[in-house]
Order: sequence, then structure tokens, then C-alpha cells
Amino acid sequence: MNNTAQYDVVSIRNDFPILDRKIFGKPLVYLDNGASTQRPVQVINAVKDLYEHNYSNVHRGVHTLSQESTNLYDDARVAVRGFINAACVHEVIFTKGTTDAINLVAQSYARPRLKKGDEILITHMEHHSNIVPWQMVCEQTGAELKVVPISDKGELDMDRFAELLSEKTKLVSVVHVSNALGTVNPVKEIVDASHAIGVPVLVDGAQAVSHIPVDVQKLDADFYAFSGHKIYGPTGVGVLYGKEKLLNEMPPYQGGGDMILSVSFEKTEYNALPYKFEAGTPNIAGVVGLGAAINYVQKIGLGTIAAHEHGLLVYATSKLQEIDGLRIIGEADQKAGLISFVLDAVHPHDIGTMLDAEGVALRAGHHCAQPVMDRYKVPATARASFAMYNTFSEIDVLAAAIVKTIGMFS
Ligand code: ALA
Repeated sequence: MNNTAQYDVVSIRNDFPILDRKIFGKPLVYLDNGASTQRPVQVINAVKDLYEHNYSNVHRGVHTLSQESTNLYDDARVAVRGFINAACVHEVIFTKGTTDAINLVAQSYARPRLKKGDEILITHMEHHSNIVPWQMVCEQTGAELKVVPISDKGELDMDRFAELLSEKTKLVSVVHVSNALGTVNPVKEIVDASHAIGVPVLVDGAQAVSHIPVDVQKLDADFYAFSGHKIYGPTGVGVLYGKEKLLNEMPPYQGGGDMILSVSFEKTEYNALPYKFEAGTPNIAGVVGLGAAINYVQKIGLGTIAAHEHGLLVYATSKLQEIDGLRIIGEADQKAGLISFVLDAVHPHDIGTMLDAEGVALRAGHHCAQPVMDRYKVPATARASFAMYNTFSEIDVLAAAIVKTIGMFS
């Protein structure tokens, strides 16, 4: 047993009602945070309060409720701006999530600019949501997708990255933290190298923002995408950060209400940022909940959370390495709090089912990263992913449940 000094995990856990659940009579050990985190009462209450007291549509009414809803919606954008240190609020676009944000950039930034002979550069450790939108835009334009390989440890081959980055590259799109391996990529180095030859960079931050402090101005990323539900907020909401200049040059992604200044059958004038990219009634409650989630995370402090999760990662890695027949997939020097593993004797899906019977929730499967599975020649992995509320004793429960599972299958 171990514990991070001065980190009050008990009081944090008290904010998350679902953590009191029993599964098959056993205390829930929730280690599927990479798929989706849980929500604190502060987020649940923000959404409940909105619906109970302030809810109406935003940006559309002069009546009190519409104004109150609009203010809460706009406050959330201010919270996101501060959280990622965007230069201004209108660089923060609310989307349905990371996938939606990447598709927006693929269709609105890349598609009008790409032609045959151009290249989009991604990596072998991308989530499907940072592969398929680029394959689609390549099919639409004749451009080609290039892929930076990864090492056996699960690190990017930066020499190959340098070779693949060329005047043909029109955009680099790279994951900040791999959801399947836990690798933290050298995104600043990637941004600097790309900018040196004038290539913009999109960073998929879905697995990063709840674990690592992100400053988009320091990073100098051109686009940065993340999802609400992976940072203790609601599902169906996310953020695309984009540099103002680029967003201004891009056409709207979707047409509809709120993204226009005026409409006639002869000519439609588009709205300014950020509304140009927020067609239709947005996910108002989701946005308000996301604002509350960000305020919650900031109150605890991402640096503190990162230190606690790093402690969990180090402890869990050493516990799991002691287990005979267990192989960790992804051993990068820089990792976030996530461990993918396979067992000699048990299929990952059986691991998931057996651990559930012990109250341990983790994800088994290809993690929407099938090329990563192919790279390591495994059909799937089991993945334990940590959050701010996990404890060292939960890691002990995880390790004991794995040992029990191996015993039952051998
Ligand atoms: N992308 C999510 C995960 O890694 C769903 O589990």
C-alpha cells in the first residue's frame, strides 16, 4: 500500500455517488475511466439546477430564462478558455465530442485545401476517430494518409516522423495520450517540427486533458480536441480549440440556426466565431455540465491529480509485473495512468467478465484502436485506466482479481 501525500482521495470519492455502488455484492472498483469517467455531484447538480431553475434555449430569447441559460452556456466557454489557456473565448467551439471535432477539421479545414499528391500525417497509435475522418477526406480529395510507426515499447518513431513530414504534408494529426497504450506523445516537439515547414497540427486530447495540464498557447497546437465525458462531464459534448486565424478561414461545417447573421434565398451571411461552427440548438445542459466539471478539476488542480495518478500507475505497474503470465502492452517511458495487458491463459473478454464478478470494471477489447492491436499481434487487451478518485487499495483488488482469474482458467 502507498498513498500520495496530501491528496484527499476520500473527500474526492465522496463527491462521486456512483462509487458507492456494489457490483455482485462487492464494492465497485471503477477502472474504465479511459472509456468514460464518472461524474461528481457538482456536475450532476449543475445539470439538475439548470433544468430545475434556468433552462430555455440559448441565444434566442429576450426572456429571463433564455438569458440565464445563455449566461450559463457562455460561462462554460469562459471556463474552457481558462482551462486550456486559449487566447480568446471564440477559439473554443463546442462540439459533440472529440470525434465530431476531428471530423469538423477534416471536412472544413482539410477538405477544401487537399488535392491529389498531398498528404495527411497521423501515427500508428491513433484511435479510429483520428484515422477514419482522414481516410474519408483522402477518398474525397485524392490525398494520401501517411502513418508514423511505433516501437515495441509503444513510443513514436520520431526519426520516421521527421522523414515522413515533408512539403507534401498538409496537416499532422496526433494523439496526445494513447487510449490503448497510455503513451504520452512528444506533441510539442511534433508541433515545432511541423511548424518549421509550415504544417499545422491537430492534437487529439481526449485522453490527455483530465490527466495532464494543457496550455494550447504554449503547445502552439493549431487545433486541440477533447470530450466532456472523459473529464468528469456529460456525454455528447466536447471542444474543438482552433487558432482564430484558421477558424476564420474555414467554411462552416454544418448549416442551420445560430450559425448565421442573415438568411435569404439569394444569400446567407455566416455568423462570427464561435457560432459559425455551432449550428442548431446546442447541447446546453452538456455544456453547462462540462463547465462545472472543469471548475471541479481546476479546484483540485491538474498537477495534483497528475501526481496522484502517476503514483497509481507506478504502483499498478509493479503489482501487475509480478503476476506470472501477464504481459503489459505499452511500456513507454512517458505514460499516463493506463495499463493495457494480456494474459497467456485468458482471453481479454473473459478477463473483463471475471473481474466484473469481483466488482472491478475495466475495458476489454480493441479500444477503437485496431491498428495498435495488429501492431502487437493481439486480438484485444484488457485495460485498467485510472482517474483522480482511484486508490492504491483498488489496485490491490485489481491484482488479486487477476490472480484469481488466472487460477480459475489454469
Ligand atoms: N475511446 C474510448 C476508450 O478508449 C471509448 O475506451
